[in-house]
Amino acid sequence: MLPFYVINSCPYPRFLHISPMCFTQVMFLMEFLTITKFYLCFLVILSIATTILNPVSATKPCNFPAIFNLGDSNSDTGGLAASLLAPTPPYGETYFHRPSGRFSDGRLIIDFIAQSFGLSYLSAYLDSLGTNFSHGANFATSASTIRPPPSIIPQGGYSPFYLDVQYTQFKDFKPRTQFIRHQGGIFASLMPKEEYFPKALYTFDIGQNDLGAGFFGNMTTQQVNASVPDIVNSFSANVKNIYNLGARSFWIHNTGPIGCLPYILANFLSVERDEYGCAKPYNEVAKYFNQKLKQAVVQLRKDLPQSAITYVDIYSVKYSLFSNPKKYGFEQPLVACCGYGGEYNYSSIVGCGGTIEINGSNVFVGSCDRPSIRVNWDGVHYTETANKFIFDKISTGAFSDPPLPLNMACHRNSTKI
Ligand SMILES: *[C@@H]1O[C@H](CO)[C@@H](O)[C@H](O)[C@H]1NC(C)=O
Ligand SMILES: *[C@@H]1O[C@H](CO)[C@@H](O)[C@H](O)[C@H]1NC(C)=O
Ligand SMILES: *[C@@H]1O[C@H](CO)[C@@H](O)[C@H](O)[C@H]1NC(C)=O
Ligand SMILES: *[C@@H]1O[C@H](CO)[C@@H](O)[C@H](O)[C@H]1NC(C)=O
Ligand SMILES: *[C@@H]1O[C@H](CO)[C@@H](O)[C@H](O)[C@H]1NC(C)=O
Ligand SMILES: *[C@@H]1O[C@H](CO)[C@@H](O)[C@H](O)[C@H]1NC(C)=O
Repeated sequence: MLPFYVINSCPYPRFLHISPMCFTQVMFLMEFLTITKFYLCFLVILSIATTILNPVSATKPCNFPAIFNLGDSNSDTGGLAASLLAPTPPYGETYFHRPSGRFSDGRLIIDFIAQSFGLSYLSAYLDSLGTNFSHGANFATSASTIRPPPSIIPQGGYSPFYLDVQYTQFKDFKPRTQFIRHQGGIFASLMPKEEYFPKALYTFDIGQNDLGAGFFGNMTTQQVNASVPDIVNSFSANVKNIYNLGARSFWIHNTGPIGCLPYILANFLSVERDEYGCAKPYNEVAKYFNQKLKQAVVQLRKDLPQSAITYVDIYSVKYSLFSNPKKYGFEQPLVACCGYGGEYNYSSIVGCGGTIEINGSNVFVGSCDRPSIRVNWDGVHYTETANKFIFDKISTGAFSDPPLPLNMACHRNSTKI
């Protein structure tokens, strides 16, 4: 927006240092258009001020040629499915009409991000079949943590591909893809161009499982809360490492209101609820994580002078789905669409796509009638409609610091370019 002091100062000399062009135009107006001078001056100053004084709004969109994503199931487009555990029907029923490796009925926020740049959906780095990395790669796997996980699938609950491992994979990805490109042959065109690496957008959505691992590992919320600075330090270290490999534009999602998700609600039935039915202490820890993450981003901007880092307040957007579902066309936000049992339609014994024996007969855990008006898909993950809603909100910049739209995320928040 145009700063008001600029308009108010017209046509006083204090303003004239801005540019010789402005001076000339102002003088021109003063001499020849005396009657309407103030009005016209206002218009000229307005247009000049918009283009010169407010370069952020005048800067060109970034044209990201590629996206490299790191994270957990909130942005996994097939990593865990290719390596350890693939979702089964009805996962994927809404958009892909088959389980697509995503833990949702359809697309994820990262899919809408890629689509908004005209890029194809990201291939998972771990997927050996039919992958196309020409415009990016996805290192996220579901059930990933920032810190080393307490237990690994299938014995335990977490992905072995925690953030340090995802970074290591990215580090190798760069030289190996360039080797393949230069070698030529059928795989060459499936590799990103070298110049895409510094120009790409590096996106992150991770941290929820570090909190979850604490909550389900018999730690008190205070103990999990106390581990947050350590978790966030590990996160920062990885951002620095990726910067040191040439990354410049970062788009970092904070963590969502974990206390509004059925897998927390159904497991901690006696925990204090807020006015919308979310588990309050769990959300408090998520908020503290976000506070520390935001502080870490401020520090990273100082440590990484050529970086453009956008901190995205996913928490607030997701929380609005629980505080105001009707306003946005949603129903029963605290209840899983695809699940089994209890107030939250969620059971840790059987999940979405599983079968359970009830009174001697096998019952398939399938989808609810209208996933398109639901927030929660399977007790942990959001529906495609919710993901699209979140994308629409965050892509404007209204939930970002700096408050630049997604396609401006290569620019720093300054009035100098
Ligand atoms: C790989 O993806 C790009 C677009 O992202 C597309 O133009 C290209 O044709 C794809 N390559 C193959 C072999 O499918
Ligand atoms: C948590 O504590 C309960 C009861 O002491 C125990 O049965 C369970 O195995 C513990 N879970 C973990 C992850 O340590
Ligand atoms: C988490 O720790 C911070 C800093 O010690 C404290 O201000 C906050 O109240 C704690 N939150 C919870 C839920 O324990
Ligand atoms: C199992 O059958 C009993 C007796 O017919 C019935 O009361 C109960 O509701 C059934 N349980 C479920 C989960 O359908
Ligand atoms: C709960 O999940 C079942 C599938 O097991 C589904 O049919 C039902 O519609 C879901 N309930 C709600 C309220 O969404
Ligand atoms: C960006 O600019 C706005 C408005 O001047 C300011 O409130 C915000 O703190 C800045 N953010 C960063 C990351 O510099």
